[in-house]
Amino acid sequence: MPFSFQIRSLDEYTHVYEQSIREPETFWDSIAANFSWRKTWDKVLEWNFREPNIKWFLNGKLNITENCIDRHLKDKADQPALIWEPNNPSEDHRVITYSELYFKVNQFANVLRNNGVKKGDRVCVYMGMVPELPIAILACARIGAIHSVIFGGFSANSITDRLQDAQVEYIITCDGAYRGAKDIPLKNIIDDALVSCPFVKKVIVLQRTGTAVSMIKGRDVWWADEIEIVEQMGNPVFVAEEMDAEDVLFILYTSGSTGKPKGVVHTCGGYMVYATYSFVNVFQYQPGDIFFCTADIGWITGHSYIIYGPLCAGATSLMFEGIPTWPDAGRFWDIIDKHKVNSFYTAPTAIRSLMANGLEPLKDKDLSTLKVLGTVGEPINEEAWHWYDEHIGKKHCPIVDTWWQTETGGIMISNLAGVTPSKPAHATLPLPGIQPVLVDEKGNEIEGNGVSGNLCIKFPWPSIIRTTYGDHERCRLNYFAAYPNLYFTGDGCLRDEDGNYRITGRVDDVLNVSGHRIGTAEVENAINMHTGVVESAVVGYPHDLKGQGIYAYVIFDNTLHDPDLTRKDIAATVSRIIGPIARPDKIQFVNGLPKTRSGKIMRRILRKIAEGETTNLGDTTTLLDPIVVNEIKEGKIN
Ligand code: PRX
Repeated sequence: MPFSFQIRSLDEYTHVYEQSIREPETFWDSIAANFSWRKTWDKVLEWNFREPNIKWFLNGKLNITENCIDRHLKDKADQPALIWEPNNPSEDHRVITYSELYFKVNQFANVLRNNGVKKGDRVCVYMGMVPELPIAILACARIGAIHSVIFGGFSANSITDRLQDAQVEYIITCDGAYRGAKDIPLKNIIDDALVSCPFVKKVIVLQRTGTAVSMIKGRDVWWADEIEIVEQMGNPVFVAEEMDAEDVLFILYTSGSTGKPKGVVHTCGGYMVYATYSFVNVFQYQPGDIFFCTADIGWITGHSYIIYGPLCAGATSLMFEGIPTWPDAGRFWDIIDKHKVNSFYTAPTAIRSLMANGLEPLKDKDLSTLKVLGTVGEPINEEAWHWYDEHIGKKHCPIVDTWWQTETGGIMISNLAGVTPSKPAHATLPLPGIQPVLVDEKGNEIEGNGVSGNLCIKFPWPSIIRTTYGDHERCRLNYFAAYPNLYFTGDGCLRDEDGNYRITGRVDDVLNVSGHRIGTAEVENAINMHTGVVESAVVGYPHDLKGQGIYAYVIFDNTLHDPDLTRKDIAATVSRIIGPIARPDKIQFVNGLPKTRSGKIMRRILRKIAEGETTNLGDTTTLLDPIVVNEIKEGKIN
């Protein structure tokens, strides 16, 4: 059965969009009616961006897992909900039908309850891409516990920060995770993180890699043993907890321009409605299609478009444990052929790295089941867009370039596959209900087409960030204080002559490295931890594969004996403090940093030098010591 809210033509899009802006509450009221609620809402929306205070579907009661699973049992019990492709192609894949998912989520919700987890408790999930990861997440949602998934590439120190911030008492992890040829010792990393987290009561450990782990008496339990206990209880059904639409569903940490990641909070009702609405419309999902999103569930893309959006829509969602280049650069294409994938959603950085491997890995690949392609996470360059269109989509699959953020919960600006026109390297048009505006530095709206400015959104949508966990003021300052009555995205943007949006990248001190968001201040803090480092400044520079690379300028004390080794030491320090994803690509030792008379580092100059600009550095007259700029230019690392 197709979805009643699926837009089928450009005319319909224009009409629906117009209605959604004219009468947003009536519009979202009718969309939300397509879901299963224990009790319908009294009021659709209450909001102001001043505090901010945003509430959707007030007093509506639901449990998102009843929408993701229970309501599909009537006519989709035997349809695959999840298909899991292992890291190693010689291992068997797994298919989990909706009825099996129901059974497993109920079972694991019982495990959580047996271990003391209750509604409102925070549960950290730090696992590899195994089917038990969505099962654990859905079990948290069923019990009403707040999940906080941490990407497997973060270090013990980063985990500690997040556990402390959310006062997490329960952890679900694996002994290890396979990623290509690597085996990441997740439980050991958790153990290091827990040294400073005595408030953690229980750690549930799934065995995946057979890596040796130390299990601490009274705190650590094996997943399999806990399942056995539930089996002995006769696998009782776990009645889903009734949640208010505005109860917290999850926290997901993301980097901003300050030194500390913030816990973005999403709530049950609005997030469910928007993740599903955007999934069905952007990808034009048809019942029976197989949807393959290559993101890691540790990021928002995996939350919204591997788990919640597809499952609420009753789709079949394929998840992959490994990496695109192992055992060879044809792995994605093999998976598409093996499982007859219809929609494929990945990041520009993956496309660029596969493109760099040439066409050999595409030989003998069929790819004829593909209908829709998508990209997310960073601007896609035209060359990569055309390669994707020609060699993967064979020029007959629409490409959706989806712009959105952890804070937006779902896709905000994108073409709708085959319904609204695409334009290479452009996210194109806003989804219904989304009101983008461009503003200048002073916050004046820039009207008309063929203009550029800072991208803001002027009206709430159901999955907008509600707060940053434990610090509402931080949420206000970060997103709602720059421009009155607007949500500020942190992105720069162009609007072309036809009204299509093209996101140009961050305008704040946030880098986008291989689609991963990293704050420059976080990297600087980590570099500064290294003994001997006096001060540092981090900027991004264009990188062929990663989109942006990390360039660090470091002032070291005067006993720098072996610069190459010290560079490696500094990189290792960053890996330890944040994680391997934040390792600087280039480290230049300098004697001073360009500063204004008030002591502020002039990053604009450092950015230009890192980008290879030598002459046009802009206004340098306010510099305290103009000589350092020449020194820095001369010592640039290529
Ligand atoms: O700069 C934009 C970029 O990624 C940022 C959001 O990062 P994150 O919260 O980690 O979420 C990534 C996945 C949704 C944005 O502020 N970005 C995301 N999608 C695009 C993009 N830049 C250009 N085009 C996109 N399609």
